[in-house]
Amino acid sequence: MSLDAIRKLVGEDFAALDREIQAQLSSDIVLINQLGHHIVSSGGKRLRPLLVLLAARGLGYTGDRHVAMAAMIEFIHTATLLHDDVVDASELRRGQDTANALWGNEAAVLVGDFLYSRAFQMMVEADRMRIMGVMASATNRIAEGEVLQLLNCHDPDTTEARYLDVIERKTATLFAAGTRVAAILADSDETTEKSLADYGQALGTAFQIIDDVLDYSASQGEMGKNVGDDLAEGKPTLPLIHAMREGNAAQRQAIREGIEQGGLERLDEVTAAIHATGALDYATAQAREAAEQALEALAPLPENDYTLALAELARFSVDRNA
Ligand code: IPE
Ligand code: IPE
Ligand code: MG
Ligand code: MG
Repeated sequence: MSLDAIRKLVGEDFAALDREIQAQLSSDIVLINQLGHHIVSSGGKRLRPLLVLLAARGLGYTGDRHVAMAAMIEFIHTATLLHDDVVDASELRRGQDTANALWGNEAAVLVGDFLYSRAFQMMVEADRMRIMGVMASATNRIAEGEVLQLLNCHDPDTTEARYLDVIERKTATLFAAGTRVAAILADSDETTEKSLADYGQALGTAFQIIDDVLDYSASQGEMGKNVGDDLAEGKPTLPLIHAMREGNAAQRQAIREGIEQGGLERLDEVTAAIHATGALDYATAQAREAAEQALEALAPLPENDYTLALAELARFSVDRNA
């Protein structure tokens, strides 16, 4: 099943999601509309809202609140991207200039805040205290992850465990929250809710590890982001951590300096060391293991087209080039 086929499976929901996103973007402040539409209309895979829609339907949910909750999750995601691109000084996102590149850091941060708070308005509208609780904890944890990552930046002694801690917080948390919210909407029992949250958590971990692999291996055209952004910011991601562990003294030194100083001067040297030490294969294998855990977490759920699509998305999170 391709990503497109999976989207078609929830085709009507997906169309409704798009309408909901457009409607919720509106504000009488022109800059919010402009910047909001810029980032949203440039696309994105919409993977997180897709998970919410599939999970809800997979559990037999027949209402329509899952569409608003899927849009809410995408708004939180988009807000974190607006903020992330400021923090990472990134200039390209979804194949277009970033909001910070076009409108400046101030506007990107503030419109990110608009999206964040709009997401909470949408949750209030859903009128489910459990959802509010899950999302309040999730957004708090994501913020912790981002701060922890900031502390690891330019630190070549960052361990694999610390790296995993960061990505589980900053990325996997939102995937887990999305699938958990779907289970709450479907009034699932505790076991089912936990299974879906575990699935989201493991899938999100796999997804971020691959994002960090692609930062060294994909092309700008495929990713819609600039290659080497992570090194430029001195981010000690898994490929670098592994290459420092396995590399010779010269390779280790090049990576250490690359992380300490940031910038792209050492990108070629660092990329060569990553390849020579099999670091991308190692990281991909770690991602595959996380995706396996996601599949295992799905086992107790009913088997239907939607849950099969969830399984497919676990595989997609590893086997992708964008
Ligand atoms: C980018 O997420 C940020 C990460 C957590 C790696 P996506 O790759 O899902 O971004 P879009 O929404 O498709 O642009
Ligand atoms: C994901 O990390 C950031 C968030 C979870 C917001 P990255 O910094 O790797 O994401 P990209 O590569 O810029 O999309
Ligand atoms: Mg970034
Ligand atoms: Mg990245």
